[in-house]
Amino acid sequence: MIHELIHKPGEEMAKEKHVPHIEVLGDKVKVSCGKEIMHPSTNEHYIVWMKLYGIDKEGKFRELGSYYPKPVEEQPVAHFSVDVSNQKEFHALIFCNIHGLWENKLDL
Ligand SMILES: [Fe+2]
Repeated sequence: MIHELIHKPGEEMAKEKHVPHIEVLGDKVKVSCGKEIMHPSTNEHYIVWMKLYGIDKEGKFRELGSYYPKPVEEQPVAHFSVDVSNQKEFHALIFCNIHGLWENKLDL
């Protein structure tokens, strides 16, 4: 099952800053891979994609956006325009080309 492949905060590899950090900045949501120390962005080791999902106040789940950072050129940081006032939870998923899937959530 796919949920068995998804790493959560607190796991050993989290030391490499794979856990997505979710931050609400006004009407945007910032998702970064790592907080103080960014995940590497090299041709050998990089974040392939970052996705943001939301659960709104009616309980509906939907994808809010995707971002594909270019290795070397871009850091794994994405800004999504979202109707924040209508959301009650955000979930971020990121995929590292070496270390796989990582998830985190933010309750509003
Ligand atoms: Fe990695």
